[in-house]
Amino acid sequence: MTESATNDNNIQSAMIPTHVAVIMDGNGRWAQTRALPRHAGHRSGVRSVREIVETAAKRGVSYLTLFAFSSENWKRPAEEVSRLMSLFLEALQREVDDLHRNNVRLTFIGAREELQAGLIRKISTAEKKTRNNTGLNLIVAVAYGGRWDIVTAAKNLATKVLNQELSVADIDDTKLAGELALAGVPDPDLLIRTGGEQRVSNFLLWNLAYAELWFCDSLWPEFGERQFDEALSFYASRQRRYGQSGNQFGVA
Ligand code: IPE
Ligand code: IPE
Ligand code: MG
Repeated sequence: MTESATNDNNIQSAMIPTHVAVIMDGNGRWAQTRALPRHAGHRSGVRSVREIVETAAKRGVSYLTLFAFSSENWKRPAEEVSRLMSLFLEALQREVDDLHRNNVRLTFIGAREELQAGLIRKISTAEKKTRNNTGLNLIVAVAYGGRWDIVTAAKNLATKVLNQELSVADIDDTKLAGELALAGVPDPDLLIRTGGEQRVSNFLLWNLAYAELWFCDSLWPEFGERQFDEALSFYASRQRRYGQSGNQFGVA
């Protein structure tokens, strides 16, 4: 990287990450500190989603992957899970036309078959409607787990071997990546996690191999354009070496 970031809102386009992945954490705590029920925090989090989608598109990010519900989140109290599912359905219903008008291509990753039939239908309709859009690729991870993803990929490869479409010797990084939920999508360049925790919580375990990691204390409902720009500035200041040494990039 040779260009430098001048300020938060004016990062050179060469330094804008192609793919940003976000662990949207802290909704529950946001609500609890206001003596509100946790679902009020999730509802407020939808506002941040809208703002971040708009900002990412404005800044020229090509792919934005949002972690909305993990495989492990099924273990939460039934009431919270059910409220979350209703909120996904409601948000999808309300936002799809707007996303479509803004040329956003919307896709979902995760164990879709675990979701309610009504939500699965809305997801497929939204994906079909926005399929040919050429703007921001918005990918929402619901019922997603990084281990689930790798296990699913391993099963697909094993099936291909059994069907003699593939030999074991030919299995490599590319073949495995080609079976993952994000097949064909460049790996995330930047991972943002809000809410103060510094862990990956079973998000894109394979794809995050060389992502730059940005953790911030803002709770997800507080996260907006300004905080997103901070993360972009951090990203613009990183030197990505992919295992090579600094001086191979002209830096000692
Ligand atoms: C993230 O916020 C949203 C989901 C996991 C669905 P949390 O609900 O995890 O909020 P905290 O971490 O408990 O504050
Ligand atoms: C990660 O947050 C999952 C999502 C944001 C959807 P969690 O709140 O589930 O993660 P842990 O339990 O703190 O690791
Ligand atoms: Mg959490």
